[in-house]
Amino acid sequence: MHGIEPLNKRDSPDSNREVGRATLILTLTLCNVSKTELSKAAKVFEMFETQIHHFETRRAKKPKNAADYFDIFIECEVHSADVSILITSLKRVTEDVKTSREEKAQVLFSVPFKSDLILSRLNLAAFSPVPWFPRKIQDLDRCHHLITKYDPSLDHGHPGYADLEYKKRRAFFADLAFNYRIGDPLPCIEYTAQETATWREVYRKLRSLYPTHACTQYLDAFQQLEKHCGYQEDNIPQLQDVSRFLKERTGFQLRPAAGLLSARDFLASLAFRVFQSTQYIRHFSSPMHSPEPDCCHELLGHVPMLADKEFAQFSQDIGLASLGSSEAEIEKLATLYWFTVEFGLCKQNGLIKAYGAGLLSSYGELTYALSNKPEYKPFDPEVTAVHPYQDQAFQPVYFVAENLEDAKAKLQNYAMKIKKPFSLHYDPFTSSVEVMNTPQKVKRALCQMKEELKNLCLALENLS
Ligand SMILES: [Fe+2]
Repeated sequence: MHGIEPLNKRDSPDSNREVGRATLILTLTLCNVSKTELSKAAKVFEMFETQIHHFETRRAKKPKNAADYFDIFIECEVHSADVSILITSLKRVTEDVKTSREEKAQVLFSVPFKSDLILSRLNLAAFSPVPWFPRKIQDLDRCHHLITKYDPSLDHGHPGYADLEYKKRRAFFADLAFNYRIGDPLPCIEYTAQETATWREVYRKLRSLYPTHACTQYLDAFQQLEKHCGYQEDNIPQLQDVSRFLKERTGFQLRPAAGLLSARDFLASLAFRVFQSTQYIRHFSSPMHSPEPDCCHELLGHVPMLADKEFAQFSQDIGLASLGSSEAEIEKLATLYWFTVEFGLCKQNGLIKAYGAGLLSSYGELTYALSNKPEYKPFDPEVTAVHPYQDQAFQPVYFVAENLEDAKAKLQNYAMKIKKPFSLHYDPFTSSVEVMNTPQKVKRALCQMKEELKNLCLALENLS
């Protein structure tokens, strides 16, 4: 599963990102012991193309044991539309972030090309009342905020925690993902013999279960992937080949992710038929379990289902529902995603089969889910969205869909009830979403749809 921790982005959906630059005074508190905090903070500044004007470190005033902490005082400049998300992102990777507002000083705003002219002194809470969300596929370059709780550098329980080589390798993959921009070719990886051996073990074991445990959509796609995309036990498929395969079938494409992402970022990418996929593999000492997503999970769990048209639409619908939604709604959508895309079961020819990636990439849980031990409940978005989930052990409850089409229809009904102060329309030609805030925009979209309907009616007439 990709994260359920939402990331708050506040900005108007109609705001022009180029209208202004903001000068910020920030104090970051970093833990000296956790050496990765500094580089993560630096990455955030880099991602938002922040211009640093002043940088100064000092021993932290707080917390009490200040010897282990230090403060960084920074004066910097950033797009005004990015201020809130920059601060939120920094809060994710540091112990504490103070803005000058919180220190009863000032946040200064200036106008582009007139950087000396200070226009106003604004309260941070006042300048971004409506959530920002990506509106075109290129905006996803700003949506890859990591959830670090399962990171091998930070999580003592991670199988690779004490393995320096593994952590170095992971840093290599993280760099590839952070440097990736939409439209770039996906990085081609030369996997080591040890990595391929881990893949082999996982592949062999899971493949033996698929004929009896996986749904037919999965089996059909898996067969195609073995034929066309290098799905073999001695070869870890390349994301580039897999992405091309998906694009031809459902329009989905992959982009590299450095690890577990925030739910808001991860779900947002689905709105554009983009699946954020990790490229590294789990630690060799634990081939049958990974505390975080890895390429076994993505390639064996997610990819085959994304080749199915019905499932692809279902995934995109969750993504579209997430855009601009409140934190509470994101939490519910992430839970829905968890019990369907990750751990979903469906009825097929009188039997129950798996379509969830968390099941199809875990030998233990796939066997367990289709045994007589767990409890089954019918998939009902209203109930599923608020059901407690388990990310440390097997699920005690699985939700069973009548079929994928039915699950999609139910999800669409659920999504229509999410209250938002605006409506969205996805344009597949430009891979962008438009805020339907004028009658003209709605009319234009309706006209497009009418043309399409006319065409389809004609096709039907020709057939009859
Ligand atoms: Fe996943």
